[in-house]
Amino acid sequence: KRHLISAADLTRDDAVLVLDTAEEMARVADRPIKKLPTLRGRTVVNLFFEDSTRTRISFEAAAKRLSADVINFSAKGSSVSKGESLKDTALTLEAMGADAVVIRHHGSGAPHRLATSGWIGGSVVNAGDGTHEHPTQALLDAFTMRRRLAGGEGDLSGRRITIVGDVLHSRVARSNVHLLSTLGAEVTLVAPPTLVPVGVNSWPCEVSYDLDSVIAKSDAVMMLRVQRERMNAAFFPTEREYARRYGLDGQRMARMPEHAVVMHPGPMNRGMEITAEVADSPRCTAVEQVTNGVSIRMAVLYLLLGGAEPAVSGAPSDHP
Ligand code: CP
Repeated sequence: KRHLISAADLTRDDAVLVLDTAEEMARVADRPIKKLPTLRGRTVVNLFFEDSTRTRISFEAAAKRLSADVINFSAKGSSVSKGESLKDTALTLEAMGADAVVIRHHGSGAPHRLATSGWIGGSVVNAGDGTHEHPTQALLDAFTMRRRLAGGEGDLSGRRITIVGDVLHSRVARSNVHLLSTLGAEVTLVAPPTLVPVGVNSWPCEVSYDLDSVIAKSDAVMMLRVQRERMNAAFFPTEREYARRYGLDGQRMARMPEHAVVMHPGPMNRGMEITAEVADSPRCTAVEQVTNGVSIRMAVLYLLLGGAEPAVSGAPSDHP
């Protein structure tokens, strides 16, 4: 495959290849020199039209660990604020020789447009588009679940994953539902009725409005950020009501099976969807997910750009 636009495009074999490659990449992080020469001479552009901390920094770290040249483009402070279009921005990047463009955009479908437009010749990676998809987030989540629940390179078949909260605005939820179902997991979405997207009945998952009825049977409980910036006040339960019915606190977490983990893609609204007690508990994988995100993004860039040398070699001479 040349682009990564949607988790729904990944076959089980594709997904397992990314996850297994990311395990190899994770070994690089354990070395004194955390770098491979595989993408030397290649250029990766991070094209961010929306704010990001984790995704932007981890794509940059991933590209640098593979020895690629990295150009960071943020719409704020660029000619986008003067009205320059996505097309002209893309043509500018193409003129600079981008081999891969990692794009985050507020418009659902912008990465697909970029990949199919012919404006650029390189690979396009979706780093989050509107309320549509965030495929590398789903991959790093699956990677984290494999490590925590299936011994690293095991199988997520039959694992019960509960995704809780603002599903309506969540590209993370959609990508996770697609990827986890492809990997054989059983996914249940839990949300207030006002925050469930139209058309969810066609998604490969169950839907519940009652967190307490599913939490005791979950192997992982993924809390979603309440996206206040995309929220229409009329659709929102009060914050207090939301936290009471759909938030995860210590008491609720205690009802989870002993082996089960709490996940959060970040950024977190502490006190809203998750209490500080839960966020800071050893059962919460939020920080681990960030670390794993670098390995996943290394794997994605490596596989899309086809590194000329083995992904990981033990020979110290491979280091630049
Ligand atoms: N999880 C995630 O996408 O975080 P950022 O918005 O900080 O990149």
